[in-house]
Amino acid sequence: MDGETGNNGLKQITLAAYAKLNLTLDILRKRPDGYHDLRMVMQSISLHDDVSVRETEDGSIRCRSSLPYLSQGSGNLAVKAAECFFQQTGLPRRGLEITLDKRIPIGAGMAGGSSDGAAVLQVLRRWYAPRMPQEELERIGLLVGSDVPFCLRGGTALAEGRGERLTELPPLPPCHLVLCKPTFSISTAELFGSLAGKKLRLHPDTAGVLEALERQDLKALCRRFYNVFEEVLPNRYREVQDIKRRLLDCGAQATLMTGSGSTVYGVFEDADEAQRCYERLRADYPLSYRELPIQSIR
Ligand code: C5P
Repeated sequence: MDGETGNNGLKQITLAAYAKLNLTLDILRKRPDGYHDLRMVMQSISLHDDVSVRETEDGSIRCRSSLPYLSQGSGNLAVKAAECFFQQTGLPRRGLEITLDKRIPIGAGMAGGSSDGAAVLQVLRRWYAPRMPQEELERIGLLVGSDVPFCLRGGTALAEGRGERLTELPPLPPCHLVLCKPTFSISTAELFGSLAGKKLRLHPDTAGVLEALERQDLKALCRRFYNVFEEVLPNRYREVQDIKRRLLDCGAQATLMTGSGSTVYGVFEDADEAQRCYERLRADYPLSYRELPIQSIR
């Protein structure tokens, strides 16, 4: 810990905040509180932001980032997380300067903001409440955003309820991931809103995915990746389908939009095939990535 305290007595640390992908996303029902009950299989991946937290003496919580248009106040989940932490624990509020080196694209369905918030919560527990149980940290995380509890745990998990009821799962078998974010972003709230009055025809075979994870059968998994949002995606977002087609043409075993989009990814068994696909997509889409699933985030 005391590698984290400078000569001035103020602490500072930098943590990686990992992105997630949905292997499945199912919407079960709309709840009286306006949220939806979901069932999702989520996976942490190697793509990450770097989150630095530094104590300051002025008592304010500030955030700056490598993307100048991101909120510097509580509209930024990193700041909201710090504010929730002090409110919920009743601990005296400290001055903090949070710096986000963003690599996870915004509005991309990869929980970039939630992951930054989760990293801040982890730092604050470590510094100010080291005996706080994981469940309590996850309860505070849910006040910050529905994906924050998963981002606090990472790995491979079944997420139910709003996303906070987590069951750890066996890892995704070794594979290579190519991700591509179209030029547009999709608002999560807007996409949930567009479900009103629509009946979903198809649902993922979540039980089949859980079995295939148990058996470590990548081919069976790839046949079952499914996200119900793809069915209700407004026509103006059809580029999602174009990218899926391109990933398949390059040899992807499965392609899926993650979360509420707009990022699309492809799963490859072969590293060279993934690399060639990445290079082809990158020529048209600057926000293309070649990544790996990861199991341990801390
Ligand atoms: O919890 P979070 O702020 O990330 O959610 C963003 C929006 O997504 C919510 O305002 C809600 O419209 C929608 N949402 C939902 N059901 C969930 C998670 C999110 O309806 N389980």
